[in-house]
Amino acid sequence: MSAYPELRTARLLLRQWRDSDRAPFAALNADSQVREYFPGLLTKEQSDGLAEKLELGLVERGFGFWAVEAPGVADFIGFIGISVPNFEAHFMPSVEIGWRLAREHWGKGYATEGARATMDHAFETLLLPELVSMTVPGNVRSRRVMEKLGFTRRDADDFDHPAIAEGHPLRRHVLYRLPKSRWYPMVKVGPPSDGPSTRGATAADERAPATSSALAR
Ligand SMILES: CC(C)(COP(=O)(O)OP(=O)(O)OC[C@H]1O[C@@H](n2cnc3c(N)ncnc32)[C@H](O)[C@@H]1OP(=O)(O)O)[C@@H](O)C(=O)NCCC(=O)NCCS
Repeated sequence: MSAYPELRTARLLLRQWRDSDRAPFAALNADSQVREYFPGLLTKEQSDGLAEKLELGLVERGFGFWAVEAPGVADFIGFIGISVPNFEAHFMPSVEIGWRLAREHWGKGYATEGARATMDHAFETLLLPELVSMTVPGNVRSRRVMEKLGFTRRDADDFDHPAIAEGHPLRRHVLYRLPKSRWYPMVKVGPPSDGPSTRGATAADERAPATSSALAR
């Protein structure tokens, strides 16, 4: 039994990091497709340092970027979770949701599925009032995940990431927000125009595995 919250979905386990995650994590951090929208690849040492930081973050806070396992498929496919950004910006203080998966596991809905469990935990257990998510404008895959989850963006929230040098093509970022007040109607009630609960039921059904199992083990 783990001392830290683990989140389960129909296909995923979001869990504490293990030493055995470090090799596949280093491989994804050295993949130029995975790192297309980040400033450079990570060395093995940098990747291990990040894994250690994320592991400690879960110990200290009880939430963070969880290592993601797809039982029966792969012991480690990447990370999904929430964190507190460590830079100043107009939307701080806030809690960010994010994801990074190995290339061979893209396009299967894993990021969206794991993020839904994370959002349940963030809104229903941690009682956060809002989540934000950010990326560069060109990262359409990540933006699509945000939009599928119900996050919305305003031009006025776009910002220059202070950790990225002025003039760097990845400095400009888009910010998406989802207040808790919009999470509940989206997944639990469904819009009134849907008639006799078709879309609401679908959303609830889709989310059920994450909801029923988003519990600490
Ligand atoms: C972003 C990322 C986590 C998405 O993971 P994933 O498990 O493939 O995501 P999902 O399958 O849940 O959803 C991806 C969506 O993007 C869509 N998509 C994929 N490629 C696309 C493209 N070129 N243009 C538009 N949409 C695209 C998919 O069709 C899917 O949407 P759909 O369900 O409506 O069809 C993954 O691509 C990744 O790890 N990227 C590298 C790291 C990264 O950029 N992290 C985010 C930093 S902010």
